Amino acid sequence: MARIALVTGGMGGIGTAICQKLADAGHTVVTTYSRPGKEVQWLADQKEKGYTFHAYQCDVADYESCQALAARISAEVGPVDVLVNNAGITKDTTFRKMSKVDWDVVMRTDLDSIFNVTKPFIDGMTDRSFGRVINISSINGQKGQFGQTNYSAAKAGMHGFTKALAQEVAKKGVTVNTVSPGYIATEMVMAVKEEIRHAIISGIPVNRLGLPEEVADLVVYLAGDKSGFITGSNIAINGGQHMF
Ligand code: CAA
Repeated sequence: MARIALVTGGMGGIGTAICQKLADAGHTVVTTYSRPGKEVQWLADQKEKGYTFHAYQCDVADYESCQALAARISAEVGPVDVLVNNAGITKDTTFRKMSKVDWDVVMRTDLDSIFNVTKPFIDGMTDRSFGRVINISSINGQKGQFGQTNYSAAKAGMHGFTKALAQEVAKKGVTVNTVSPGYIATEMVMAVKEEIRHAIISGIPVNRLGLPEEVADLVVYLAGDKSGFITGSNIAINGGQHMF
């Protein structure tokens, strides 16, 4: 069934693929961007590829900004049944060198955001007896990563949120799941120094980076009507780099 889906941070590598695949599945897709600038070009590029998306500016780290977003979507697009908490950032540095600012900005953007964005949409989902919340975490939330104490903590916290909320809303037809991608061919991964990146890829049994589209296909399945018995799960998509 076609629904309204909100994908935060939909203009990044994984986000763009998720928006496109949700649209391919027939959903109306709304996305967010943090700073004005690249949305005009992104929307134009998508239009050229045949996609029409709704895009709103929103700081997912800011509660009021998310409430304002929800009010606008409700008035201008309609009720959101599928929420993909995808927006996230890295500030990689060893703990010894990590500033309080590096810690705070990652916790606020990657972890507080899932409270801020889920909060204004969850009641609508339970009232309508259908909802899908899909939190995009990371392999590094499970295994930890040198240089990512902030990001690993935030991404691990995200799955605790998933498991708790999943229990609270299960009876109302709402599922809450975590998807934990490994290293995917995106700008975020390409920003890792080449030699470190190569060393990481050599540790992936499938022997390559993942594709954003591979993550997006999984998200589309979780967003659909057939996935109702999957909730509170953490689904790894990492080429075998970390098995648990
Ligand atoms: N394991 C063990 N030791 C390591 C190491 C590792 N993975 N990486 C670096 N070191 C060692 C170095 O060999 C060096 O040792 P010596 O001092 O004895 O020579 C020391 O640590 C370097 O320490 P520095 O504090 O100087 O670190 P740096 O500034 O050179 O690099 C870093 C720090 C930038 C964080 C770097 O370690 C790094 O890029 N790590 C990878 C981070 C990463 O994987 N990010 C993923 C981004 S993509 C993403 O996050 C998406 C997703 O969900 C997967």
